[in-house]
Amino acid sequence: MDGDWRTIIEPFRIKSVEPLRFTTLEERERALERTGYNVFGLGRAEVLIDLLTDSGTGAMSAEQWAGMQRGDESYAGATSYDRFATAVSELTGMAHVIPVHQGRAAERILFAEMVHQGDIVPNNTHFDTTRANIEYDKAEAIDLPCAEADDTQAEAPFKGNMDVERLSSTLAANPGRVPLVILTVTNNTVGGQPVSMANVRAVRAVCDRFGVPLVLDAARFAENSWLVIQREDGYRDRTPREVAQELFSLADGVMMSAKKDGLANIGGFLALRDDELAANCRALLILTEGFPTYGGLAGRDLEAIAQGLQEVLDPDYLRYRVRTAEYLAQRCWDAGVQTVRPPGGHAVYIDAGAMLAHVPRAAFPAHALVVELYRLGGVRAVEVGSVMFGPAAQHELVRLALPRRVYTQSHIDYVAEVIQAVYERRTGVGGYQIVWEPPFLRHFTARFAPV
Ligand code: F0G
Repeated sequence: MDGDWRTIIEPFRIKSVEPLRFTTLEERERALERTGYNVFGLGRAEVLIDLLTDSGTGAMSAEQWAGMQRGDESYAGATSYDRFATAVSELTGMAHVIPVHQGRAAERILFAEMVHQGDIVPNNTHFDTTRANIEYDKAEAIDLPCAEADDTQAEAPFKGNMDVERLSSTLAANPGRVPLVILTVTNNTVGGQPVSMANVRAVRAVCDRFGVPLVLDAARFAENSWLVIQREDGYRDRTPREVAQELFSLADGVMMSAKKDGLANIGGFLALRDDELAANCRALLILTEGFPTYGGLAGRDLEAIAQGLQEVLDPDYLRYRVRTAEYLAQRCWDAGVQTVRPPGGHAVYIDAGAMLAHVPRAAFPAHALVVELYRLGGVRAVEVGSVMFGPAAQHELVRLALPRRVYTQSHIDYVAEVIQAVYERRTGVGGYQIVWEPPFLRHFTARFAPV
């Protein structure tokens, strides 16, 4: 019977708990009025199930907490750095490991070195901080997602892939202007969709042809590796660690937010092969993050990440992780709610444009759905549509991001019930207008009113 049971259980038991606080409909409505109908303004005690992000919101293991106790807080030469650097080097095969306080710090440092005014940086799809850091350096960030990513309902296994033809023509048309190519694994912006190993290899070959380095934005590398094992020919019998090592072997550098697949609440790193580039990045690190053996983190954080990078590649963990997203997506489909297909690793993305078809784009249907999920059930999700991206938004999506090892199946069942309840009363859900917005990144602080 080993392995034949139908129920995929959470592969952990819980020994430290945090109570949830239940609110009434009236309390939630008052909270929405106070925050200008923006769920970023809610306090933790006002939210029942928090699916705003999977970043830094996971639960650490007993072994990670043990590592926290061992944390060596020496300014220079901490043993915690040695453990961290060894864990990252063994995984990535890269000689230089530079700790940073989170992913965007790795982006800022690497781009300050590599990206110059007028340059072009292609990515399968840039995450918003990656794009912003490139644009800050007065360069152009371009997205080259594969064609299948356009259609939320297409069942392609690797919708995170890069369009290799367009990469090739971009490089041919812009000699000397492309300092690096980035692949984001998994591709968060198009729905947490994986990139196939065949695509990474094809991108690598194009980079080699044009002599341009390839850097991975590896925030969710373990989920990507698991989905490769599940979906790509020739990987069935490989371990997640072997697949991850093969993935990293194809790159020249890695930018990592350890708040995702590092299973840590804070932290990240830059891993590089090139000695001179690494030396220059370390010099910048000292300027704003800290000495190269801690880089903006405490020794205890380095321990948590070193341990997290081992645990995240456990097949039992990854099976449960990906199964949770599939399960929630299936519950949505059973209720008649469309999500981005197939489900990816870290989140389920509801197609709010389809669900609230009567709400015009100008009245922000995905935002309206976010508000209603909170109003009705205390569930906090995030809008990925016209509020976040303006007229450039491709779809009106609501992301339900799944914090790692935090919620159980009954929490997910509850979320599904709330989604179904909203779906059943969808025609009564109206749109919103923006009454105040900041000059950039408006989704975090804009205020809204019902129309
Ligand atoms: N790259 C990707 C693909 C990300 O998803 C994120 C963060 C970053 C880089 C930046 O890392 O937050 O540690 O500075 N994504 C979070 C999210 C915020 O909610 O998807 P960071």
